[in-house]
Amino acid sequence: MNDMAAGNDLVLELRDLHVEVEGREILRGVNLSVRSGETHVLFGPNGSGKTTLLMAIMGFPRYRVTRGGVFLEGEDITALPPHERARRGIGMMFQRPPTVRGVSLEQMASICSRDDVDVGAVAGELNLTDFLARDVNHGFSGGEIKRSELLQLMAQNPDVVLLDEPESGVDMENLQLVGKAIRILLQKDLRRRRRKCGLIITHTGYILDYVEADQGHVLCEGAVVCTGNPREQLEGIRKYGFEECAKCTR
Ligand SMILES: Nc1ncnc2c1ncn2[C@@H]1O[C@H](COP(=O)(O)OP(=O)(O)OP(=O)(O)O)[C@@H](O)[C@H]1O
Ligand SMILES: [Mg+2]
Repeated sequence: MNDMAAGNDLVLELRDLHVEVEGREILRGVNLSVRSGETHVLFGPNGSGKTTLLMAIMGFPRYRVTRGGVFLEGEDITALPPHERARRGIGMMFQRPPTVRGVSLEQMASICSRDDVDVGAVAGELNLTDFLARDVNHGFSGGEIKRSELLQLMAQNPDVVLLDEPESGVDMENLQLVGKAIRILLQKDLRRRRRKCGLIITHTGYILDYVEADQGHVLCEGAVVCTGNPREQLEGIRKYGFEECAKCTR
């Protein structure tokens, strides 16, 4: 772990997680543990099951758990619906969130809000003030959608932060805003009392320039084939590709 002061308690645990989508097995026995204060990243080729993993942690019924389960602070939450998991402090930023007509971004952020978050101020920090009155994600560009997702997540202020490719499609200037927002979400500038933990999917690893991660996992064909130092993993993937990475026995 990078931060000695971070907590040590197990917060999120996936035990032998098998998940099926439309009758097809996508996750084939994933074990993964995230402790209080830790940030983990998840790498893997397109179609390897990364989004499926986050959707299953969030509990969307389409992602059917056929074996194993999801545990939050030791409690089996596999049978809980998504809104219950959100109430218990799990929050997710989607890779491809839906457009919600008839609900403005400001209303949605207020609905998501667990504490007294100043939505207007957070929107300002994310360069989204002009978007508050618009329907959620309606006509937003790719990068604007990412920031809109972050705004809703910051309003929710979850304890377990799941991010599906937060930096993809975001330009260099906005990348800084996104990085800063994720640092706030994960309490990265709080050293002693940091509790929040995160699991971040990334292809590029750009986010590692803003948010240091404690562990990385490489997912291939629905199974974790490597757990280790995320920067070393990224270097390995860049040099040798995922196929070679999966063969590595280091
Ligand atoms: N509704 C569905 N019906 C059939 N197959 C599905 C469905 N949803 C997901 N899949 C399949 O599950 C596999 C894993 O998809 P997933 O979205 O989890 O991949 P990913 O690792 O997030 O990929 P990417 O890097 O492209 O985002 C893919 O082959 C996908 O086509
Ligand atoms: Mg995905």
